Amino acid sequence: MEIKNLTKKFGDFIAVDHMSLTIQEGEIFGLLGSNGAGKSTTINMISGLLKNNGGEIYILGKNIATHSKFAKMNIGIVPQDLAIYEDMTAYENVRFFAGLYGLRGTELRVRAEEALEFVGLSDKQKSYPKNFSGGMKRRLNIACAIAHRPKLIIMDEPTVGIDPQSRNYILNSVRKLNEMGCTIIYTSHYMEEVEELCTRIAIVDHGKVIAEGTKEQLTAIITDTKEIWVEVKTCEHIDEKSLKEIKGVNTVTIEENIIKIISQAEINNLNQIIQFFINHGLEIRSLQEQAPNLETVFLTLTGRNLRD
Ligand SMILES: Nc1ncnc2c1ncn2[C@@H]1O[C@H](COP(=O)(O)OP(=O)(O)O)[C@@H](O)[C@H]1O
Ligand SMILES: [Mg+2]
Repeated sequence: MEIKNLTKKFGDFIAVDHMSLTIQEGEIFGLLGSNGAGKSTTINMISGLLKNNGGEIYILGKNIATHSKFAKMNIGIVPQDLAIYEDMTAYENVRFFAGLYGLRGTELRVRAEEALEFVGLSDKQKSYPKNFSGGMKRRLNIACAIAHRPKLIIMDEPTVGIDPQSRNYILNSVRKLNEMGCTIIYTSHYMEEVEELCTRIAIVDHGKVIAEGTKEQLTAIITDTKEIWVEVKTCEHIDEKSLKEIKGVNTVTIEENIIKIISQAEINNLNQIIQFFINHGLEIRSLQEQAPNLETVFLTLTGRNLRD
């Protein structure tokens, strides 16, 4: 699938800003960005829920503006906000959504059962989702999105707010769907998931793609940086500004009691960094250099933390 110059405005605010992406068949493509980056807005335009203000979207070579039915039949969307009916059983939910794609009779029944089996909810067919855990609801939502066997499956933050067991189940089903021939677009603000799962990744920020490639290509952007984590006893009063003034330091972020410092690799500033903590009366608990990962890439490119 392909997105060209896709743009969405809400009033004067540009949520998606001339975004362009090419996703090859058979990929698990990751859209990584913090809250408000424009991921869901992009997906809602692909699914036809929102109208774009500019640009084009192509599914299997066809422009969705002129081939909306074709697009609908070939896409399965697992939305960020659950779309299931609490007063229908799990099976009725899947049947309902699969029915919207024109499936009827035996085919509809078999596909609905298969989809429920795929997400591990066969024994809950007759149960009502209002009694389900968050993870089970999410899995039901996946069943609703895949029963019509779409070629492209788009999942919008499918692991937010669910238990670890359901999370693993979902990550494994993404892999399985991909092995079965589906192309996947996987949206998340969890760097670890995207890094582990995706063949290629686009980092989005303020509605724009700011970097794109394999994990290796993305971390290659920052070979000239190092990341130092300083764990302190407490860090209520860190003078971030003067820490940033140390030669070579690019960004400073604080997560609980760990201060993450991204710095130019070739500048030896460890003494000054340690001196900073001593001068400010901060007790260092540990200090380590981290191997650069996608979080480092994100921090370096945006100056912000992925989870902010
Ligand atoms: N219907 C809307 N009206 C106004 N602003 C919106 C609307 N939907 C989303 N936005 C804004 O657009 C930006 C992108 O949102 P969203 O696509 O949901 O981001 P993400 O999914 O990456 O967290 C945010 O700043 C959000 O507040
Ligand atoms: Mg979102």
